[in-house]
Amino acid sequence: MANRGKARAHANIALIKYWGKKDDELVLPMNSSLSLTLDAFYTETEVIFNKDIDRDYFYLNGDIQNEAATNRVTRFLNLFRSTAKMNIPAIIKSTNYVPTAAGLASSASGFAALAAAANIASGLNLDHRELSIYARQGSGSATRSIYGGFVEWQKGTGGDDSYAIPIDDAKWDIGMVIVIVNPEKKTVSSRAGMKRTVSTSPFYKGWLESAEEDLKQIKIAIKRRDIEQVGQIAESNSFKMHATMLGAKPPLLYWEPESIMVMEIVRELRNQGILCYLTMDAGPNVKIICKLSEGRIIKRKLEKIFKSKQIIVTGPGPGIVAL
Ligand code: PMV
Repeated sequence: MANRGKARAHANIALIKYWGKKDDELVLPMNSSLSLTLDAFYTETEVIFNKDIDRDYFYLNGDIQNEAATNRVTRFLNLFRSTAKMNIPAIIKSTNYVPTAAGLASSASGFAALAAAANIASGLNLDHRELSIYARQGSGSATRSIYGGFVEWQKGTGGDDSYAIPIDDAKWDIGMVIVIVNPEKKTVSSRAGMKRTVSTSPFYKGWLESAEEDLKQIKIAIKRRDIEQVGQIAESNSFKMHATMLGAKPPLLYWEPESIMVMEIVRELRNQGILCYLTMDAGPNVKIICKLSEGRIIKRKLEKIFKSKQIIVTGPGPGIVAL
């Protein structure tokens, strides 16, 4: 058994959001989702199984992690250990590569890289589909980071058929401008936020119904490389997700005043003929979907309000790679 494995995975941003689980344990989503994997943000992780240590040791960006963070990694590695029928502890060294002050702590790239590294280290040789199923159990959005470009996470019906599939390699003029409004950790985790929304928001049913239609339409738009349609559908889908969050009890509001400033700039740019649309997740940062070739124009406009290092222009990124 090769006892050591190292891999890289890139972060992804959902254009059709995943918000709500129908099974917490297996991490089965209420709806299918679709994302774009990004070039600028990634995680590199090494897993070394070692018979001579007493438990797992998890280092993130060089720092040894506390019990809670280590336990989450241990539980995840147990999936691999149980399939490989072994029980050897591991040293896990993970590095998040994000541009300075980005603060996009990404569980998506994190668990996808960990899955890919554990796959090598355990000698299991799982294929991408199986890895996507494993990554899902670390964090839902990690399911999609196994692949590059546009990726669909098909909700499936159970643990074995809920996985991601690549839709389009995105090797055309599309990208994102990420605006880091606030690099701090979110106040309500996506896990807790989803639970609250599903159980208390009267708008949740409407969100679910329209997410299915949005997914169908965006896939047609991606095939046509129609950035205007892709952007419009993604922006509307994101606002609908935030509307269902606002309907929760107590309400979930992830926006900050600067998030709304970005929304106004996006609207202004659109009035000037630049195709750009926004999407937001469980936090105040704003992601602008645009032609990659126009990313710099958008960045320049945003620099009137934000510091240059808060604005990252990125193209589509690749799937997992062994290092
Ligand atoms: O899987 P998590 O816990 O990273 O949740 C992701 C939730 C959203 O980012 C809001 C939407 C998504 O599909 O990525």
